Amino acid sequence: MLRLLLSFTILHFSQSLCPNGFDLVSTGECRGYYARAKLDHTTALDKYVAKCGEMQAKPIKIQNAEQQSYWMNRVGEYPGDVVIGLMCNTTSKSVQWYDGTGLDYLPPNGIDEGSSCSPRCIWYLWENSWKRYCTTDGINSSIYCTTQLQQPIPSANGCDDFESDEDDGVCYQIADAESWQEAQKSCRSFGADLASIHSLKENSFIRRLAVSRGAVTGLFLGATASGKGNDFKWVDGTDWDYQNFYAGFPVAGLGDCLVMDTAGSTAGEWVNTDCSTKLPAACVRQPNNHTCTTGPWKEGEIISSPGFPYDASLACDFMFSVPVGKRVELEVIFLEANSCCDNLVLYENYLGAYVIATLTGEMSNKVYSTSSSNFMRVSWNPNGGVNVKGMQIKYRAV
Ligand SMILES: *[C@@H]1O[C@H](CO)[C@@H](O)[C@H](O)[C@H]1NC(C)=O
Ligand SMILES: *[C@@H]1O[C@H](CO)[C@@H](O)[C@H](O)[C@H]1NC(C)=O
Ligand SMILES: *[C@@H]1O[C@H](CO)[C@@H](O)[C@H](O)[C@H]1NC(C)=O
Repeated sequence: MLRLLLSFTILHFSQSLCPNGFDLVSTGECRGYYARAKLDHTTALDKYVAKCGEMQAKPIKIQNAEQQSYWMNRVGEYPGDVVIGLMCNTTSKSVQWYDGTGLDYLPPNGIDEGSSCSPRCIWYLWENSWKRYCTTDGINSSIYCTTQLQQPIPSANGCDDFESDEDDGVCYQIADAESWQEAQKSCRSFGADLASIHSLKENSFIRRLAVSRGAVTGLFLGATASGKGNDFKWVDGTDWDYQNFYAGFPVAGLGDCLVMDTAGSTAGEWVNTDCSTKLPAACVRQPNNHTCTTGPWKEGEIISSPGFPYDASLACDFMFSVPVGKRVELEVIFLEANSCCDNLVLYENYLGAYVIATLTGEMSNKVYSTSSSNFMRVSWNPNGGVNVKGMQIKYRAV
């Protein structure tokens, strides 16, 4: 179902998938505080469900000791502050979760089921038990919610959510963007680059893909102009060995970014356009072979955990060295790791005696450096890597 949907929409990628202020805790689950609300006894659970729904999240549901202990740590001084998603089902006359599932775990100090089954009650966490509150006054509570991250499913040809050009085996996709700079970022967030084009066949493949994704007003390609606006170069550094400009283009002064026309009689032909135009982008990447590769790496190159962003389960070590006398500066461009289980460890030198930082959870654009060594070892240590994307880093000499 997901794949079907993706094949008709332009890809979007949000760098941070847990809602703001939520923790990425375990198995791809985000948990956090959303708002305070007065839960009226007649509609308490409905209101709780609706509040979490405002951010595509769900009420607290506790199915094991880890969850019980996590949420108990949020309980403050007042009973009733941390409500949970329990309800009494008046048909079955038993307590169940808001989504209709039964209780497969009970807290250490048990549950207060009361003597009558009323839909007009809300349960909250207190002293390691689930207490019931059924008065008419309503209750001021903190609304905590949870959401589950969704990780795309890896495919056999290694293109995953990208389309395979069977001809040369590389993978293409059309991504949403607000400008050429955004287009480049957007492609990189998929572990891809803006596409360079080297044959008519490739040009046609990308044009057909764009049209099938509804990108009919044009498409950014991975080239910019320098000088007088007509000296185009591919940003991936490959040779300029093919071009398909519309007659008379590029036109100096029209803009420094390369765009493919995608519909109409000039479809497939290229023009130059202002780089701040809002257009989707053609992204390209190598098939994902889900293996840890050992470099050598270049300064400034974006390096991802194996399988990024489709599979974060493979461990990998990266060694970075810079000239003697310099230090290694590492930028964690993006990290999405389950804080229970997965981490990224940065070591001074390559033996791993001195840890610079142990990172987990979610972060972006954070910089670390060695204190004196010209070597840094970076270990991606997933323990499952469930439903998270993994990491992207780059290094430079300072
Ligand atoms: C209440 O329980 C009955 C019988 O087990 C079930 O069919 C029904 O779906 C439940 N209602 C809700 C709202 O979950
Ligand atoms: C609940 O909160 C409202 C608004 O913050 C406040 O006016 C009210 O007194 C509170 N009620 C209780 C029972 O704490
Ligand atoms: C996996 O991909 C990398 C980079 O694209 C390549 O260097 C490596 O040889 C590939 N490994 C296998 C087993 O295909």
